[in-house]
Amino acid sequence: MVERHLAKVDVVSSNLIARSISHHFGNGSNPSASAEKLSANFSLLFMFVWSKLSAEKWLDAWEERFAGNPNLVVEYVKGGRSIRLQLFCETEAQAQAVAKQFGGSIRKLAKADWQKPPAAPRPIKVRDAILLTAETGAPQIKALRKAHPQRTIISIPPEMAFGTGDHVTTSTCLRMLVDIARERKNSTWTVADLGAGTGVLAIAAKHLGAGETFACDFDPFAVSVAQRNAERNGTPDIVIKEQDVLKWKPRAKGYDVVLANIFSTVLIQAWPVIAQALARNGDLVVSGILATQAWDVFKAAAANGLGFTSVVTKGKWVTARGGHMTDLITKGNAR
Ligand SMILES: C[S@@+](CC[C@H](N)C(=O)[O-])C[C@H]1O[C@@H](n2cnc3c(N)ncnc32)[C@H](O)[C@@H]1O
Repeated sequence: MVERHLAKVDVVSSNLIARSISHHFGNGSNPSASAEKLSANFSLLFMFVWSKLSAEKWLDAWEERFAGNPNLVVEYVKGGRSIRLQLFCETEAQAQAVAKQFGGSIRKLAKADWQKPPAAPRPIKVRDAILLTAETGAPQIKALRKAHPQRTIISIPPEMAFGTGDHVTTSTCLRMLVDIARERKNSTWTVADLGAGTGVLAIAAKHLGAGETFACDFDPFAVSVAQRNAERNGTPDIVIKEQDVLKWKPRAKGYDVVLANIFSTVLIQAWPVIAQALARNGDLVVSGILATQAWDVFKAAAANGLGFTSVVTKGKWVTARGGHMTDLITKGNAR
């Protein structure tokens, strides 16, 4: 899944610096020679961008090829008939490997070009409950609170972790979450956010009244971004872990609400874990599903006893709300 905004080029790039730093200097325990240090410094000064133009009709195929790679940026060009794919690579060898497979060209990008501050996206409103902003300054947040007194203001600055709210999968999950929170008002409910990215869903859940909230992502960078965002938004009690969903062993009592905006391929493999993580009468919200893959995703969910009562398609993305089929059948049309 990619967020298709020109501004994201800078977001992606600037965060690669952080990744590069943690990759090369992370544990400080590698005494290897100055050659490595040189290469580390080099990677802090340059990156390599593989790029290729393609017809828009191949977008799905490209997204599947690069599924899960957060360093891919897609822009629409020529009035939407074509797309430009760009993959930001830390090393020239990585970029060359992609070019060898798919053609395209490689360019070297100087640090100065990729450190421009990204443009702040417009505030995003979710029902009448939430306003997502990229602003982080206290005066700006205060002004937003004053202008939107009925909304919870959530500040998620653009960083490379996915989940600023401007992708339809995130915003549709958020809308479903607001509805669930309203239905669960005056009760205590727990949440697991699987594939948390920036932590936006977990943070919103806390503000909407969730109790114990767990969030995980297998990307350590996303975990640190989510932790910063949880602090920033006054929800430091969210438990945020670096964890691969596919290897996760959820606690026996599960969670009342499970949110999983991850890719179809991950969902299909993760259904047994998700079914285990979802408490009886729990609410499940899933997204990140390409419409072309939805049938396979839902069939695999059904094989694990999970079903969906609400399916929303926006563009090519599908988001669905459901639960254990046994609970949905008992509840009938209560929703
Ligand atoms: C599409 S983003 C969703 C981010 C955020 N929850 C949102 O709704 O905007 C998917 C996230 O899932 C994470 N992810 C993908 N596969 C995963 C796995 N097997 N285990 C844990 N996290 C995973 C990615 O690193 C990414 O941050």
